[in-house]
Amino acid sequence: MAEKLSGEFVFDPEFGQNPYATYAALREKGPVHAVRSHTGRDDFLVVDYEHGRAALADPRLAKDFRHGAASPQRRGDTDDNGDTATSSPLLDRNLLNSDPPDHTRLRRLLSRAFTPRRIESLRPRIQEIADGLVDGMAGRGHADLLDEYAFPLPIVVICELLGIPAEDREDFRVWSTTLVSATLTEEDARRRVAANQDIRAYFAGIIAARRAEPRDDMVSALVSARDERELLSEPELIAALTLLLIAGHETTVNLIGNGALALLTHPGQLRLLRERPELLPSAVEEFLRYEGPVERATLRFAAEDMEIDGVTVPRGSVVHVALGAADRDPRAFGDPDVLDITRGDNHHLAFGHGVHFCLGAHLARLEGRIAFETLLRRLPGLRLACPPSELSWRGNGTIIRGLRSLP
Ligand code: HEM
Repeated sequence: MAEKLSGEFVFDPEFGQNPYATYAALREKGPVHAVRSHTGRDDFLVVDYEHGRAALADPRLAKDFRHGAASPQRRGDTDDNGDTATSSPLLDRNLLNSDPPDHTRLRRLLSRAFTPRRIESLRPRIQEIADGLVDGMAGRGHADLLDEYAFPLPIVVICELLGIPAEDREDFRVWSTTLVSATLTEEDARRRVAANQDIRAYFAGIIAARRAEPRDDMVSALVSARDERELLSEPELIAALTLLLIAGHETTVNLIGNGALALLTHPGQLRLLRERPELLPSAVEEFLRYEGPVERATLRFAAEDMEIDGVTVPRGSVVHVALGAADRDPRAFGDPDVLDITRGDNHHLAFGHGVHFCLGAHLARLEGRIAFETLLRRLPGLRLACPPSELSWRGNGTIIRGLRSLP
């Protein structure tokens, strides 16, 4: 293992613009690095494919916060709802932050809404939404592709799937951004608590309405699973809805945004895709690998003392798996820094791996394929309105890889 890194590196604007150079330099030194976090504790960062993939599926690396040495839950400073100042419904009690058997129970419950067949049945509606959004941009000569296409498309889809009003999406956007941002200052923590309370109150209202008058939507189905079969608790119900809403906001948006930028800055690949639309599925996989929306996986905690590639990881440590680094590992992918939409056997980790493998992967792939097919077919003159160097990435410590705008 090389010298200890300061966890501040993820806040470096240069890293925010291009994390891949830093990851490549770290990977040269070794697959696992100790990172001194802002709390003074040592975290661990995995930057290669082999150990990253293994870590994602390692049952010793738990998701439940109570396994973390510095876990606020372990310190006991929780509020009336059992949440902490830095936590959120997203962080507590959802399947992404639970281990078997709770994880197995929650995942089984939610999976029903995400089977390939259920997702495929959404195709005509997703196409209609994509066409409607292009109608709104076409003929104007200029648009922000992120605000007017990449953002609304998956949001409208997830809102309709859940059964919540898409008109409230500006509120969702604010809450969602707050909940996935790093919490460093007291102000961050205060904003997070407020977003946490707002989102909880919002879903409590929706749940009460569906309880009184059930509809044919996912909120009603989960309310019935809760009330009639007691398959989950009330906080788990709110946490599940929050996770789905946020997963719908922070990921597919950036598959579309990052993928569109990759195409627009690689004219040869754009031309190839226009000439051979049958390459669309492999192009989407390549966008996921090349500039995946989730740059670092969500936190894992060592449930026991362990070693990763000879590096001692003490019990309670936080382990970060850099998916963006693993997917550019030259030992796993030939010419990893080259965008190649014809790449075969694209075994990327953009959707994670193991029991927490993305529940929404079928939906995200379908949305991505429809989004790119529609964009290329309907807007043949599509091009960037500014030099790529003027675009800015969200950065700032977030685990999400996404642009701020795409004119
Ligand atoms: C889990 C990526 C879209 C719902 C994950 C994980 C990744 C991921 C990397 C695992 C995280 C970890 O192990 O730390 C993505 C990407 C997407 C996408 C790149 C879009 C391109 C979606 C959508 C939904 C969704 C559209 C649902 C509406 C979930 C859920 C989990 C998850 C519920 C937790 C699964 C579990 O813990 O068992 N996603 N996601 N995702 N994703 Fe996605």
